[in-house]
Amino acid sequence: MSEELFKKLVSHAKKYGFIFQSSEIYDGLSAVYDYGPYGVELKNNIKEYWWKSMVQMHDNIVGIDSAIFMHPKTWKASGHVDAFNDPLIDNKDSKKRYRADVLIEDHIAKIEGKINKEVNKAKKRFGDDFDEEKFRAEHPRVQKYLTQIKEIQERMGASLSAGDLEDIKLLIEELGITDPASGSRNWTEVRQFNLMFNTQLGNISGEEGKLYLRPETAQGIFVNFLNVQKTTRQKIPFGIAQIGKAFRNEIVARQFIFRMREFEQMEMQYFVQPGKEMEWFDYWKEHRMKWHKALGTSDDKLRYHDHDNLAHYANAAVDIEFKFPFGFKELEGIHSRTDFDLSSHQELSGKKLQYFDPEMNENYVPYVVETSIGVDRMFLAVMTNAYTEEMVPDASGGEAERVVLKIPAALAPIKAAVLPLVKNKEELTTKAKEVFDKLKLFFNIQYDEKDAIGRRYRRQDAIGTPFCITIDFETLDDNTVTVRERDSLDQDRMHIDELAHYLEKHTNISTLLTKLI
Ligand code: GAP
Repeated sequence: MSEELFKKLVSHAKKYGFIFQSSEIYDGLSAVYDYGPYGVELKNNIKEYWWKSMVQMHDNIVGIDSAIFMHPKTWKASGHVDAFNDPLIDNKDSKKRYRADVLIEDHIAKIEGKINKEVNKAKKRFGDDFDEEKFRAEHPRVQKYLTQIKEIQERMGASLSAGDLEDIKLLIEELGITDPASGSRNWTEVRQFNLMFNTQLGNISGEEGKLYLRPETAQGIFVNFLNVQKTTRQKIPFGIAQIGKAFRNEIVARQFIFRMREFEQMEMQYFVQPGKEMEWFDYWKEHRMKWHKALGTSDDKLRYHDHDNLAHYANAAVDIEFKFPFGFKELEGIHSRTDFDLSSHQELSGKKLQYFDPEMNENYVPYVVETSIGVDRMFLAVMTNAYTEEMVPDASGGEAERVVLKIPAALAPIKAAVLPLVKNKEELTTKAKEVFDKLKLFFNIQYDEKDAIGRRYRRQDAIGTPFCITIDFETLDDNTVTVRERDSLDQDRMHIDELAHYLEKHTNISTLLTKLI
């Protein structure tokens, strides 16, 4: 999908009630978004798919819903007060502020662009005989670019891990990176900027009353580890899952809902015996990829990316990256967090956070493997995959363009639309409303009688409704209806009594969950 199509997707999301800019009437608030009527349905379905895949499908994973506000010491123990920073750099001429690492990543993307150019040129030249893999592995210029990328990534990773901000500045200068806004190379020093938002408790002044808006949901799970373990009598290994809001004062806020200041996370912490963490890291790495692929996302749009720069709490980390319209970017992170969090909370709170392992007959602080995915980012991935412009046959025997969201049926905001063929025939509308009233008990469906049937189909295509049920004159004779499938445009004739079973079979979340077994 090109940048051009991405712009169309963003405006489609607004036009059809999926996503609005927050406080739009005041010209909006940057990097904050509201979900409209279809957006909230899609978002809820994504959350349901995730929740059920974790909590319902694993008898050793349970859920919680912890508060956004936590004791301020939580964030000291977790390392967020001291280390949850982004490296910032300002341009002295344009006065614009950037994330230093993002400037370098954008530079890498430009080199990747050069590689793609070489590949496309060769593709044209060699036609069907072209072996892309071999070309990438052997072509001297491509090899030179790949080496450059590797060297930049390694140096940036090492400098960020070591907190060597001087070297990050040096790297920006050596690479000749200019301000994207002004072209200037007049940079300030690189400094650290803490990403947590804070606010103040009403009854305590000063540092003591300083509260943070959680930057991740994970800490609510860590501090409840023993509460949950004891009340559910779980044995290690076991997991705790949570979906909830998180807040980060992102400096680079762009690319629509990809990077937001207020967003939602779906996180699962899996508590394991020390020493077994890599085994479980591999398990969750594979299982989470399966979850994404169950949605029908093609292999070439998903890939793993090992972290070069490990977070302060991790001993191994991998991203699942999705091919967004602006390139491959992180969609989900899988991190082996060791016993860092539980041990830090144990130390700062003075309360034991240990598990007695009957198998080993000993107490220990468990190790943790986490899976962490942003709901909004997943939403954007689903929309990106779904947005399609295509030519389809029209009523006059010709062709017409349609915009259709090919959202997996189980995630679609509306499962079916009930449409009387024409609106001015009362027998048809009465029958259609009967069908609608029957089905609405079980499915999120719509009734629509306004405009010609073709236009109503287009409206449903635009919001991704997988099935349109048309009530026509034959229905009045034999209680059969036409069911039009969104992607193939196939039309099936079936009895009204079969509809509930048909929709259940094709739109239930279980159609996805079965692929995970
Ligand atoms: N508990 C670990 C953690 O929070 P992270 O890699 O910082 O790890 C996990 O975030 C996921 O949360 C990311 O993969 C992404 O999907 C989502 N995420 C992070 N920051 C975000 C932002 N500013 N806007 C939208 N989603 C974000």
